[in-house]
Amino acid sequence: MYRNRALQVRVANIKEETSTIKRFTLQAIDDTILPPFSGGSHITTFLPQPTGILDRHYSVFNLTAKTGLLEIAVRLAEDSTGGSYYWHHHVQVGDVLSVSYPKNYFPLSFQAKHHAFYAAGIGITPFLSMMAELTEKNKTFELHYAAKSKEQCAFYDYLHEAFPNQCHFYFSNGEDKKRISPTQLLNHRIGTHVYFCGPESMIQDFATSAKTYGYPPFHVHFERFAPRPMKEQHAFQIRMKRKETELEVPANATLLDVLLQNGIKIPYSCRVGGCGTCEIKVTEGEIVHFDSFLSEEQQKSNRTMLSCVSRGKGRLVLDL
Ligand code: FES
Repeated sequence: MYRNRALQVRVANIKEETSTIKRFTLQAIDDTILPPFSGGSHITTFLPQPTGILDRHYSVFNLTAKTGLLEIAVRLAEDSTGGSYYWHHHVQVGDVLSVSYPKNYFPLSFQAKHHAFYAAGIGITPFLSMMAELTEKNKTFELHYAAKSKEQCAFYDYLHEAFPNQCHFYFSNGEDKKRISPTQLLNHRIGTHVYFCGPESMIQDFATSAKTYGYPPFHVHFERFAPRPMKEQHAFQIRMKRKETELEVPANATLLDVLLQNGIKIPYSCRVGGCGTCEIKVTEGEIVHFDSFLSEEQQKSNRTMLSCVSRGKGRLVLDL
C-alpha cells in the first residue's frame, strides 16, 4: 500500500552470517543518507518477480560504523521459491532495489524498568536495533537467544563482543546443549517488559506462559513475520452495509484480498495481523480472530476485525 512511497537503495555489501542467513547492507543511491529508524522497526522490500512484485518484511538494523545505512538479514527458507530464494540467489552487490520507509509495529516500551528479549533463529533481528537503542539511552536489558549451534547462531561474534554481560545463548546441538525455556520468565523483576521473536510455536509458548505467570498484557510484546497458522480455513460471506454488496471470501483468500480485488480501498501494511492498519468495523455476524494486535477485550466485543488475517463464521455484515 505504501509502495508508491518506496525508496531506491543500492546493495552495498552482502555477508554470510551462517550457512542459511545472509546480511545485506543497503545504502542510498545518491549521496544522501537513508531515513533513521527506531528499535524494532522493519522495512518492506519489493522484489520483481515474473508474476509481479513480491512484498516481504524484514527487521532493520545497522551494525556498521556508518550512519544512514539500512541492514537486513534474510534466512533462506527450505522450500523457498520466492522472497528468501531471490535474496540469496539473485541479489548482488550493486543492485538497485525498492524498499519502503522504515515502520515500527514492535517498538520498545519506555515504561519498562527492564527489557528481556527472547529470540530463536532469525528472530534475533528486531532485537539488534532495540539493543543499540537501549545502549544509547543507558537502559538495562538482557537477551536470551536460541540457535541450533554456535555456527548457526547469526551475529554470535558481534553479540558476544558488544554485550558480553547481557547475552545468554542456548544451543540445541553440540556438547553444551541448553534449551531456552519460558520458565525463565519467572526470573524477571516486577516492571520488566518481555519481548519474543522466533517461530510461531515459540511465540505461543512464551506468550501463554507470560500470561500464566501474571505478566500484564502490556508488558508482553511479540512480533510475527507470518500470519498465525490456522488449522482449517472456511469460506465465508460478507455483506457491505453501505455499498449494499455481497461477496464471498473463499477458503484460500483473505478478506483483505477479496476487498482489494473488488476495488474497495482498504489501507493495509503488515498483512500478518500485527499493525492494525486494515481494521474494519463489523455490525453483524461472528468474527474468528487471528491477529496479534487487538486486545482480548476488543476481540471479545465482536465489533471489529483485522481483514488481513481474521475471518468470519457464516456471514459478516461490514460497516463499508
Ligand atoms: S495489515 Fe497489519 S494488521 Fe492487517
